[in-house]
Amino acid sequence: MDRHQLMKEFETCFGYKGERVFFSPGRINLIGEHTDYNGGKVFPCAIDKGTYGVVKKRQDKEVHAFSGNFPEVGTLSFSIESIEYDKADSWSNYLKGMIKYIQDEYGILPNGFDVYIYGTIPNGASLSSSASLELLIGVIIRELFNLDLPQLDIVKLGMKTENEFLGLNSGILDQFAIGMAKKSYAVLLDTNTLIYEYVPLVLPNHKILIMNSMTRRELVDSEYNTRRRQCEEALERLQTTLNVTSLGEVSIEDFEEHKAVIEDKVLIRRARHAVYESDRTERAAEALKQGELEQFGRYMNESHVSLHDDYEVTIEATDLLPRLAWEQDGVVGARMTGGGFGGCCIAIVEQDAVEPVIDYIATGFKEKMGYNAEFYIVETADGTKEWVNND
Ligand code: GLA
Repeated sequence: MDRHQLMKEFETCFGYKGERVFFSPGRINLIGEHTDYNGGKVFPCAIDKGTYGVVKKRQDKEVHAFSGNFPEVGTLSFSIESIEYDKADSWSNYLKGMIKYIQDEYGILPNGFDVYIYGTIPNGASLSSSASLELLIGVIIRELFNLDLPQLDIVKLGMKTENEFLGLNSGILDQFAIGMAKKSYAVLLDTNTLIYEYVPLVLPNHKILIMNSMTRRELVDSEYNTRRRQCEEALERLQTTLNVTSLGEVSIEDFEEHKAVIEDKVLIRRARHAVYESDRTERAAEALKQGELEQFGRYMNESHVSLHDDYEVTIEATDLLPRLAWEQDGVVGARMTGGGFGGCCIAIVEQDAVEPVIDYIATGFKEKMGYNAEFYIVETADGTKEWVNND
């Protein structure tokens, strides 16, 4: 993205020059899906597609925000002294939520600000465009007003915005990945304790390929919340014989020994995914540490199968993409990423095979689905921060 262009856009919107530029990445989850609200492990990294923000403080207490992605919406304005959720305010609700929760802890900010935003993450594609925006605003506010606000606290406020301001019952995966990521690393997070570890993700002969099914998630919120409730129910039943506080704490051995107390077949499958996926995620991170990329790929594939068979959050388009990928030489592993019910899949592909692999999957997908998927090669990225130099 061209920094000069971003500054120009700000000037066109607000009629004077912007001052500081920030970048907040998107994320992919390499493995560890639907484990974050179950106290299990996740293993995401941030990507170089993300959300840019150009800002300058105002003299008054207003925020004026313009998104280059939604020019038809125009400039959205509100006062930081009276922040309320309003469905009609579309994307600026993410800003409002972040400002509200920061102010709840630090008091009303001394000034408002003007912000021009531009995102390169496709929306609704399970690459966390909303968490990217939340973290962007949190970091902008900290830097503009010199707040003593640790990055991990911004992560938690991002999740609070999602849960309490927007009413989506998601876990901490997206905000954590985006806020805490480091370029060339994936991060293994225990969502129970928030203990985390950076694992090098340097792939000299491979590329990370994102395959966008171009299917926006439908009914995702209700399905997502249903999965969550089912896991809670399964946990309650397991707790009648096991002394645990989350499914993430249940070992595979204990699960197999005690699963009968869950009784319900569907609930058993949901819990089985959560327990096995968390275990698999830890093993996968270990394999990557040991340089066993092929093994890592096998865990990715197993994860997808479990999300299909036991968790039932895949759809035809997001099953097709990994299945086509698995048929190709040079594909180390492939799976859906994010919440499911559409969105993107990821694959790790040998560099020399990238072009033929994309051709093969694109053709197979078009034949079966009747429309085109999109493909992006991405690099890992740092967590949300100010873009200081023009590099
Ligand atoms: C969505 C949620 C995350 C996580 C994933 C599934 O992305 O926002 O908290 O639950 O789904 O792993």
